[in-house]
Amino acid sequence: MNARVPFLDLVSQQAEIASEVLPRWQQLFESSSFIGGPPVDDFEREFAAYCGAGHAVGVANGTDAIELALRAIGVEPGAEVIIPVNTFIATAEAVSRIGARPVFVDVDPEHLLIDPEAVEAALTPRTRAIVPVHLYGQVAPVDRLLPIAAAADVPIVEDNAQAQGASSAAGRTGSLATIAATSFYPGKNLGAAGDAGAVTTDVAELADAVRTLGAHGSAAKYVHDRVGMNSRLDSVQAVVLSAKLRRLDEWNARRRAAADHYGDLLSAVDGVDAPSAVAGTTPVWHLYVVQVDERDGVLAGLAERGVSAAIHYPTPLHLTDAYAGSHGGRGAFPVAEAAADRILSLPMFPHLERGQQQYVVEQLAATVARGASKLRV
Ligand SMILES: Cc1ncc(COP(=O)(O)O)c(C=O)c1O
Repeated sequence: MNARVPFLDLVSQQAEIASEVLPRWQQLFESSSFIGGPPVDDFEREFAAYCGAGHAVGVANGTDAIELALRAIGVEPGAEVIIPVNTFIATAEAVSRIGARPVFVDVDPEHLLIDPEAVEAALTPRTRAIVPVHLYGQVAPVDRLLPIAAAADVPIVEDNAQAQGASSAAGRTGSLATIAATSFYPGKNLGAAGDAGAVTTDVAELADAVRTLGAHGSAAKYVHDRVGMNSRLDSVQAVVLSAKLRRLDEWNARRRAAADHYGDLLSAVDGVDAPSAVAGTTPVWHLYVVQVDERDGVLAGLAERGVSAAIHYPTPLHLTDAYAGSHGGRGAFPVAEAAADRILSLPMFPHLERGQQQYVVEQLAATVARGASKLRV
């Protein structure tokens, strides 16, 4: 059955930019200029300015962006990199691909973002980076991590894949620490028409290092200073990203309005914990994650009623097969483990309509009440 309310509607986004993008794609096809060139230079400049960072370097995807940022700051095989256990696996993969070790830490129970006290406890002489993740479009507590990182002389790499446009008093995500990585996977707040990503930083030497590493370790043609990789932003993607960047503030504002509306509707529903914005920040609600008991039943009930919901993420990283073993088993990260059983992401996208939200919340209330009455029997 087609969902009456989809989880995400990308078709409406493409429709808004089609008349701008398609002629430019045709020009690119006719010129066969696919790698680099003015569209990529323009987007890098625009995205750096948008984030409030001195430099942006386009790369092939968000996972590469994290790996390249870590390599640029000098993370090497054997190093430890602290990351939250509640994140998409790519954050950890980027560390592992270098041959470094992801060191997981628990998250705070209210917003499920990296817990600074847990970070402090996880520091060792081998720690070479801390990677807070701006999960769900909320600003991670970089302000509280900065003094901890400075005292340990360890740089912070923001994982900004889910939060383009979010801000705190210190500025926009992507400019809050030494260097940041982001993903333009199509479903992100700023999404390409395929895979793409970027690194942002104020430090010119780090931007140069990312650019060189992503071009086979080569700053000048066929001169290879170090072993790099191929990770570049395609011009066809840069054209899409520039068009969408011009609409990002409006689309993020629409997400915030939708989040506020969900909050109002859910205040009348028992048994559903709605999320709140981190104090002093402006989130961009990449995902709208509520918490309910008997979550799997609620998810199935919503699907039966035509509401497409999801879970981000069902398994904390230390319990995935990929990372089982060396990070402690069940019980090692109690906050993330408890949350993983209750979290439920409701449909959230800029073009979500109020009628759709009304329907989602009605069906959610009915499904939660049905589960609660079964529990009482
Ligand atoms: C938090 C987080 N980090 C990293 C990534 C990796 O990005 P990509 O899929 O572009 O490699 C994603 C998204 O997929 C993400 O959500």
